[in-house]
Amino acid sequence: MKIDKKIESEILHVAMVMDGNGRWANERALARLKGHAKGADRVRHIVRASLDMRVTHLTLFAFSTENWKRSESEVLGLMSLFKKFMKSEAKKLLINGVKVRFIGDRSKLDDPIIKLMNDLELMTVENDNLHLSIALNYGGRDEIVRATKKIAEKVKLGQINTDDISAELFSNNLDTFDLPDPDLVIRTSGEMRTSNFLPWQCAYSEYVFEQSNWPDFNKDIYQKILNDFKNRERRFGAVLK
Ligand code: IPE
Ligand code: IPE
Ligand code: MG
Repeated sequence: MKIDKKIESEILHVAMVMDGNGRWANERALARLKGHAKGADRVRHIVRASLDMRVTHLTLFAFSTENWKRSESEVLGLMSLFKKFMKSEAKKLLINGVKVRFIGDRSKLDDPIIKLMNDLELMTVENDNLHLSIALNYGGRDEIVRATKKIAEKVKLGQINTDDISAELFSNNLDTFDLPDPDLVIRTSGEMRTSNFLPWQCAYSEYVFEQSNWPDFNKDIYQKILNDFKNRERRFGAVLK
């Protein structure tokens, strides 16, 4: 909600559900993890493209609170890919002015990964070219429950009154407290559902459901989606003349 430095008209927040890694691998008779590795490669490409296309905020859904239901080997494989990504990309992200932060419940992750996340956030904290938020162990309902607990605790301690609770106060207690709401959500792989991604924040976001699987998503498709998005009429409940 709090918008630092940049004026509102310059803000463009794109959120992405990076879906279809498994199907991409299946179609090529490869292991699902090969699809995830190729997916990590796409993240590099899309971060670069976002910088080129002057997207100010990019939020990527990397692992959901529901993804723990997958096989142990897939979960472990994903976690080691996240670690590998953070180690190999840290310097490049820093040099390119990317500010990285993580949303989701990191308390359930193992210590080495939490350390890498904290270090990357700290290292890039002064950057301002692109605000990259990575949703890791993120679930919208889980985030709302955690925010509710924080607020309830403040009421209990007498720091705020029940009447102080507003949509704004609620937003300020979510993991995304310092981010503008997404303007556009892109989900790859053709699935038309949100899968618990930013339900509060996307109340008025535009959605695009893209057919290609995440490992095939590229700058050209992204550019076209952004061009189309710029021609959409957003109303926010009002009647525009
Ligand atoms: C998205 O790809 C990556 C994660 C959820 C971590 P999937 O692994 O969901 O790919 P599909 O949906 O099985 O094709
Ligand atoms: C959403 O994709 C989560 C991520 C992309 C990280 P899923 O593949 O987990 O979603 P469902 O299960 O198809 O709804
Ligand atoms: Mg999927």
